[in-house]
Parts: sequence; structure tokens; C-alpha cells
Amino acid sequence: MTTRTFHIAAIPADGVGTEVLEAGRTLLDALAADSGGEFAFEWTDYPWGTDYYHRTGQMMPDDGLDQLRDVDAIYFGAVGAPEVPDHVTLWGLRLAICQGFDQWANVRPVTFHPGVTSPLRTIDDTSLDWVVVRENSEGEYSGLGGRNLAGRGPGNEVAVQSSLFTETGCERIVRFAFDLARTRQRKVVTSVTKSNAQQHGMVLWDDVFARVAADYPDVEANSCLVDAMAARFVLHPEDLSVVVASNLHADVLSDLGSALAGSLGLATSANLNPERRTPSMFEPVHGSAPDIAGKGIANPIGAIGSAGLMLSHFGLHDAATRVRDAIDATTAAGVLPADLGGDATSKQITEAVLDHLETAR
Ligand SMILES: NC(=O)c1ccc[n+]([C@@H]2O[C@H](COP(=O)([O-])OP(=O)(O)OC[C@H]3O[C@@H](n4cnc5c(N)ncnc54)[C@H](O)[C@@H]3O)[C@@H](O)[C@H]2O)c1
Repeated sequence: MTTRTFHIAAIPADGVGTEVLEAGRTLLDALAADSGGEFAFEWTDYPWGTDYYHRTGQMMPDDGLDQLRDVDAIYFGAVGAPEVPDHVTLWGLRLAICQGFDQWANVRPVTFHPGVTSPLRTIDDTSLDWVVVRENSEGEYSGLGGRNLAGRGPGNEVAVQSSLFTETGCERIVRFAFDLARTRQRKVVTSVTKSNAQQHGMVLWDDVFARVAADYPDVEANSCLVDAMAARFVLHPEDLSVVVASNLHADVLSDLGSALAGSLGLATSANLNPERRTPSMFEPVHGSAPDIAGKGIANPIGAIGSAGLMLSHFGLHDAATRVRDAIDATTAAGVLPADLGGDATSKQITEAVLDHLETAR
């Protein structure tokens, strides 16, 4: 058998990013070692992030994207540190990679694990499972705008931050959502906008959604305003299957979803270039969590689950299923980190997931 070797760029970056990425790598390497030569991972470490910024004045080098261009995937931790403004760290690294590689579809599953108490009280007898599909290349995070007129003196500066909605950008993410819905048991796509108040870009989104929906008669399509959707996440989550929204709205809604599932530390994410022209990036949704960094208590499940999404992206579906099952077996056994009300360390959780990988073989 020829071993399929996947070259992965690891960018742990800042804070708990380094801790949780280590956990995911341990899992991936264990799966490769156990694959009987079916697949292997070759890692390259990139020490980019805030420490690198302090040394060089940049979050990553000028040729950073060129260094990453030929890898099979990027495994990312989290970026951000209290002493550097967040827009500098985010735009200098994570958003630079997402935009630079046109990773236009951000898939953020909301997964409820056994043994984890959700603030949604129906969790014990209702099966909940939905995916937030985030437009990841334009919208409110297109970076268009600027600050000016500071020269008029204190209190007179202005800032313009424009949202960009292109028909192409809307259409590709909406089609992606419908295609994803076709793979799920409940074939429903809900489009989220605020087109009552934002009458240009988001009405274009609505028009595109209606046009694309007509091509998918087998998928139920409906629309919801973002404020109503926030309430629906809490009150009627059983209605949801695929939720497609703009960059900002899906960013906020996916954090809400993960909190409803128990904690932000659980949330997984894939930043995809679906055409595979450039490498896709897999990362936990959470940030660098400076308040708990270095304590060894960060929840590694979001990072481990994101490694599972990477395995699916590589077509290693059995391995991906083993990761999901091992996570569920770990939480069901009550091995929970502090953010889920337990006292297990990051290392203990990683070991428990590894043990369950063994037993699931
Ligand atoms: N993708 C990213 O790289 C990303 C995403 C969000 C925020 N950030 C950055 O992270 C920094 C901190 O931002 P924040 O505090 O708003 O968000 P955060 O996600 O870092 O933390 C929010 C809360 O969730 C907790 N938390 C996060 N991850 C956890 C984990 N794995 N286990 C247990 N608890 C966890 C934290 O302790 C904190 O209480 C900022 O610099 C921000 O810009 C980066």
C-alpha cells in the first residue's frame, strides 16, 4: 500500500492556542501511527504570532502565504495577546491567511456531546445538531474603509467601515450551504440577514438566496433576521440544520451555538477553499484565552474536533468518525474540563480521547 502523506503547517500562535494544538497533533499522530501505513502526517511548525510580532514588528513574514501555499492544510491555534491591539494581531495573521487564500467557506458545526450539560434544558431528550456556514471572504470583514480627519483636532476624527457583498460571493456560499444540507438528514437551509435595516448588500444576499434555492427543490429553504435567529438558537434549536450567514453574523451566532452546546471550548471550525486552489485552515473557534493560558486547563476538544474536520477534508472519513466518537466517549464518561464544570486538565482529556480511540478500533 502506498502511504498518503499529508503536509500540515502548524501555527499555534498565542495563549491557549499552543496548548490545544499540541493536543490535536497528538491525536493526529496517534491515528497515523495506527493506520497501518494508510496515511501519515508531515508537520512544519511556524512560530508566527504575537511573540514573533514583538521580535520582528510583523505577525508573519512578508512571504508568509508563499511559505504556506503548497501545504495540504493549515492547523491553527488562536491569535491575540492583551498588550497588542486585537485588530493588529487578527488582521496580521489569521484574517491575512483566510483572505489571502480565499478560504471563503467557514464551516462551524454546533455539536452537543453526551455528558455535557447545556443551558438548553431540553438537551437530554432532544437531538440537536446544526452547522453554521459563514461567508468568510467579504461582508463586514472585507477590511474596506479608513480613518480620517484627525487633523481637525480632538473629537473630530471619522471612520468608515464598509461591508462588501458581491453576487459571486453570496452565490458561492449559498450554494455551498445547500450542497451541505443535501448531505444531512434534515435537508433545511436557513438564511440569516438583517436586510430590513441593511437594504443594499443584504437584499442582494436575499435575492441570490431565493434564486439559488430554486435550484434545490429537495432542500427546504427559509430566511430569518439575525436578531430573531439569536432568539431561535435558544428557543427552537431543533428547527435548525444548516444556517448560512454573513461573516459578522455567523461569527456571533456560532459562538452563541457553542455556548448553548456547553462552552466555546468545544467549538470546531474549518476555513475552506472549496475549489482546493489553496490550503484550507482548521482551528478551534475560541481565541487565545489569556485568562487561563499557561494553566494547563484549556479545553482541547475544539482543537481536537477541528483536527477531525481536517481528516474529513482529506477524505479520511473513518479516522474522522473515530475522533468524533472518542470525544463523545470522553465527555460521556464525565472527563470534563473546567469550562464544562469538571476538573480534568487539558492533558487528561487528551489522554482520555486517545484511550477511547484505542477502544474504538
Ligand atoms: N480565532 C482566533 O484566533 C480568535 C478568536 C477569538 C478571539 N481571539 C483573540 O483572543 C483574545 C481573547 O479574546 P476573548 O477573551 O474575547 O475570547 P476567547 O475565546 O479567547 O475567550 C473567551 C472566554 O472563553 C474561555 N475560553 C476560550 N477558549 C477556551 C478553552 N479552550 N477552554 C476553556 N475556556 C476557554 C476564556 O477563558 C474566556 O473566558 C483576543 O486577543 C481576541 O482578539 C482570537
